[in-house]
Formats: sequence, structure tokens, C-alpha cells
Amino acid sequence: MIIALDGPSGVGKGTLGRSLASHYHLAFLDTGLLYRKVGLYVLENGKNPDSEQDALEGVQFLKFDAKDDHKLRTEVVGQAASKVAAHLSLRQALLEWQRNFAHQHTSEYQGAILDGRDIGTVVLPDADIKIYLTAHTETRAERRFEELKARGESLTFDQVLEDVKARDRRDQSRQHSPLHPAQDAFILDTSFLSKEEVLERVISHIEKSTKKDYL
Ligand code: DC
Repeated sequence: MIIALDGPSGVGKGTLGRSLASHYHLAFLDTGLLYRKVGLYVLENGKNPDSEQDALEGVQFLKFDAKDDHKLRTEVVGQAASKVAAHLSLRQALLEWQRNFAHQHTSEYQGAILDGRDIGTVVLPDADIKIYLTAHTETRAERRFEELKARGESLTFDQVLEDVKARDRRDQSRQHSPLHPAQDAFILDTSFLSKEEVLERVISHIEKSTKKDYL
């Protein structure tokens, strides 16, 4: 089973992705980490995230693993990731690796789940299940604020809200692979749902969709 999970920042993709991965025994890839790694490289080397050449240089030094790192999760790296993610050549350089990840784990796992912005639309258009999470901007900023606070970042709520809005604008309006739900995605608004309720509803959708295939 291949699952594509998309949505804007702070919507709860990571939490849901990890829960689904453990429930269905799937390999899990947070594709935002790849863009964050390039963003971090650009920042640490005094390069410009708006420059396609600088972003591409970052990809050459990218260690293609899905390893999480405290530095990658900061808001400043998230913004840089959103900027480098606008470059077509960079997106293309990451495409093959993401697709390979989805298909390489068949013996070890029951399949894979990838979360990002363009998984259902571009990276895995043939995914068995496509999920698109959405939530009000303020709710997502609140969740992001709590997450960053827990990580020791000292941003105010208003700063986080502005960052979330800026990232939404950039991710949705960019020319290449902008964030939007795939036509056949199951869209779920998580604004008023707990993590458990989100998981429950998505599992129920998956059970229904996979059952349909066997009728
Ligand atoms: O999911 P995240 O917040 O870690 O992602 C960081 C940025 O990376 C996000 O603002 C846009 C970009 N991104 C993307 O363009 N496509 C993806 N599949 C994943 C992330």
C-alpha cells in the first residue's frame, strides 16, 4: 500500500504519517526534511535560497537519508526550505529519490507513506490512497507555536502566524508543484479534531477504499 499525505504546514501530517506507518507497518518519509536539508545547507553556507544555482549546490551535498535533526526543524530553516522548494531543477533532483523510497521497501514493510506538499499530485500520482489535511491558519499557527516552544524556540505567536501565512502563500502560489489537493484525495479538515479522531477517520477512509477494490 502506497499512501500520499499532503497539506500545509502545522496541519498534523507528521503525527498522522507516523501513526499510519506504525498501524499499517509502512516505511515513512517526511519529504519536507529533504527541502529543509537543502535550506539548512544554503543558510549555513551564506548562500541565497532564492537563487536556483545555490539551491542546486545544496542538493549535491545532500545526504539522501531521512534522518531527523534538531536544527532542521527550526522556523528559519522551514522558511528557507519553502524558498528553495520553488526551484524546478531542485524539485526534479529530489523526485526520483522520493519515488524510489516509496517502492524500495516492499520486503521489509507492507508499503510506504510519504508526506509533503505534492506527493499525491506529482511525486506519486498513482498512490493507492491520497489524503489531504487542512486546518484554519490560526489553528495551524497555534500548533506550530506549541511545537516550536517545546523545542526551545523563542518566537511569539504573532511571528509564527506571520511565518505560517508567508509559507502558505509561497507554497500555494509557486509555479512548480504548488500545494493543492489531488483530484482524488480524501480531504479532511483537522481544525476541530484531536490527533486520535484524525487517525480514526483516516483509517476508516482507508478501510472503505481498500474494501471497495475487492468487491
Ligand atoms: O513539511 P515541512 O514544513 O517540513 O516542509 C518545509 C518546506 O518544504 C515547505 O514549506 C515546502 C517544502 N516542501 C515542498 O515544497 N514539497 C514537499 N513535498 C515537502 C516540502
